[in-house]
Amino acid sequence: MALRALTGIKPTGEPHVGNWLGAIRPALELASSYDTFYFIADYHALNSIYDADALRKNTLSIAATYLAFGLDPGRSIFYRQSEIPEVFELAWILACFTPKGLMNRAHSYKDSVAKNVEAGRDPDQNINMGLYSYPVLMAADILIFSANLVPVGADQKQHVEIARDIAERINHNYKTALFVLPEPKIDDHVKTIVGLDGRKMSKSYDNTIPLFLEEKPLLKRINQIVTNSQAPEEPKDPEQSSIFNLHKLLLSGPEEEALRSRYRAGGLGWGHAKKDYFEALNARLQGPRKEYQRLMSDPAALEAILAQGRDKARAKASVFLDTVRSTIGIR
Ligand code: ADP
Ligand code: TRP
Repeated sequence: MALRALTGIKPTGEPHVGNWLGAIRPALELASSYDTFYFIADYHALNSIYDADALRKNTLSIAATYLAFGLDPGRSIFYRQSEIPEVFELAWILACFTPKGLMNRAHSYKDSVAKNVEAGRDPDQNINMGLYSYPVLMAADILIFSANLVPVGADQKQHVEIARDIAERINHNYKTALFVLPEPKIDDHVKTIVGLDGRKMSKSYDNTIPLFLEEKPLLKRINQIVTNSQAPEEPKDPEQSSIFNLHKLLLSGPEEEALRSRYRAGGLGWGHAKKDYFEALNARLQGPRKEYQRLMSDPAALEAILAQGRDKARAKASVFLDTVRSTIGIR
C-alpha cells in the first residue's frame, strides 16, 4: 500500500504566487508517488473570517485553484473539511489528551499574545478559542486519515509536531499503534517566497502577486516589485533581487544559472528584468487562469467534485473513527 500524504489550505483570501510555489505545487507533485488527500480547511478559517459570503466564496475559489493547477479528483481525495463530521469528533477526543501547556507554546497563539503585550493590551485580547485550539483541529485533520506525510510551509511545522505528540500520547496510553505518526514535509528548495517589498509574500503584508490577475494588472503588479537605484548597465547581485528570487522559482537549474549570469554581467535594467519575469510567469499562469475562470463560473460542477471527495473521505474516516471509539471505551 502506498504511503499517504495529506494537506489542507485555509480559504482566507485571494491565492497568490507564494501559496502556489510554497504550498500547492509541492503538494500536488506528491500525487504521483503517494495516496493523496487535499482539503479546504474552511473551519480553520472561521477563527478569522466572520463574513459568510466571503467564506463561501473563498472556499470555492481555493477549490478551483487546486483544480486549475492540476489536482486530479479521480486520483486524489479532495474535500471540504466541514463536510467530514468525523474530524470534529476526533478533535474533541484529541483535546482530552492535549496538555494545555502544549497549546500555550504554539507559535500562532504565542505571536498573538506577544503582539497584545507589546501594544499594552490585555494578553488575550481578540484571541478566540478557535485560534487557541487550532493545532488540535489540525491534528484531527491529519490523524483521521492516518497520513504519513504532511507537506506544509515552514510556519506549519510545529503544528505537525504537535499532531505527532498528541498521537504518541494516545498510542502510549492504550498501548496500541492506533495513530500513524505524521512527518512534516518542508520543501527546503522553496523556503520563503518574497513579495513585492522583499518581505515574505503574504496577504497580511499586501505585497502579493495574485495568481489569477488578467495580463495587464499582472504586469502592473510585477512592476511594483521594489528594486534599488542601480542603472541598467551596472552589474547586479541576483541574490539580493526580489525579481530574481521570484523568477528563479520558474526555471530549471541551467536556466537559473543563465539568468544569474545575465544579472551579474550588467546591461540588464530592472524594467527589463521585470518584463522577463512577467513573461515567464504569464506563460505558466495562462492555462490555470482559464481553467480557474471556467470553474468559478460553474459552481455546480465544483460542488459535484467536492461531493465525490466527501463520499470517499467519509467512507474512510467513519471506519477509522469506529476503531478510535472502541479503543478509548466510547461504545
Ligand atoms: P498568507 O501568508 O498570504 O496569509 P497563508 O498563511 O494562507 O498565506 O498560506 C497558505 C500556504 O501557503 C501555507 O502552507 C504557507 O506556508 C504557504 N505560503 C504562503 N506564503 C508563502 C511564502 N511567501 N513562501 C512560501 N510559502 C508560503
Ligand atoms: N494550518 C494550515 C495553514 O494555515 C492549514 C491546515 C489545516 C493544514 N489543517 C491542515 C495543513 C492539515 C496540513 C494538514 O496553512
